[in-house]
Amino acid sequence: MGRLTGKVALITGGARGMGAAAVRIFVREGARVLIADVLEEPGRALAAQLGEAARFQRLDVSQEGEWEAAMAAAEAMGPLNVLVNNAAILHAAAITQTSLADYQRVINVNQVGTFLGIRAAIEPMKRAGGGSIVNISSIDGLQSKNGLIAYSASKWAVRGMTKCAAIELGRYGIRVNSVHPGGIDTVMGNPGAMSFEKVSEFYEHHALPRVGLPEEIANMALFLASDEASYCTGSEYPVDGGWNAGLRNERLPGS
Ligand SMILES: NC(=O)c1ccc[n+]([C@@H]2O[C@H](COP(=O)([O-])OP(=O)(O)OC[C@H]3O[C@@H](n4cnc5c(N)ncnc54)[C@H](O)[C@@H]3O)[C@@H](O)[C@H]2O)c1
Repeated sequence: MGRLTGKVALITGGARGMGAAAVRIFVREGARVLIADVLEEPGRALAAQLGEAARFQRLDVSQEGEWEAAMAAAEAMGPLNVLVNNAAILHAAAITQTSLADYQRVINVNQVGTFLGIRAAIEPMKRAGGGSIVNISSIDGLQSKNGLIAYSASKWAVRGMTKCAAIELGRYGIRVNSVHPGGIDTVMGNPGAMSFEKVSEFYEHHALPRVGLPEEIANMALFLASDEASYCTGSEYPVDGGWNAGLRNERLPGS
């Protein structure tokens, strides 16, 4: 028996990257999965590869009016048990170079999209008798970097919203947690498609001195989605190779 046998999950941004890794792992563990993304071709191709267990629905998470159809498509597969709010965009620019339009575009997808997803999942999950919402935040929702004013704001918001939702929804058996990936080898984390070895050089001072793999994040989403996490809610789960612990300092002993 799989770790998600009998469950239905909606995964936003499921057409590629970490979302697609979660889709594959959830299906392997017995879930039926709705892939919801703006990228139609890869989303449909992934659903076709996985057969009966997966379907694709076009969804722009920032558009309030599109969530109802997405939830209906998920519930057509069975009662909705899991929502992974994974879709996001990155805009890297100095604060002085960040236009209001750039800032709002990031907030609309990453923060507003997560809010709309949480809100849309409440009634379906109540009907299902409970559920698990997994919000993909970032290392930049625990700390930050220069150049990430909008992205970091959105990812700190996701972490905060997670706690509010956990407190409001626990009484309905709905758990809500956030996952905080470090640097991961996807289009977002490695836009130049550098080799694993080359991109890992960026992480040479990390406790685990390499880039992370999408499956390593999906495995945490799997745990939080499953009944194994039955007493976990309102918390943040870093999967960052130790980045948030600090960096190895070559001027000090023990490096
Ligand atoms: N890659 C990293 O290094 C890294 C690090 C920390 C956190 N994260 C987070 O992990 C999650 C997954 O990122 P990834 O690296 O797989 O990125 P990715 O760019 O490879 O995939 C993101 C997916 O989201 C979809 N998407 C974007 N805007 C959307 C919208 N408005 N509506 C629906 N779908 C939309 C894209 O089409 C794409 O399929 C994101 O929340 C990201 O912020 C990534």
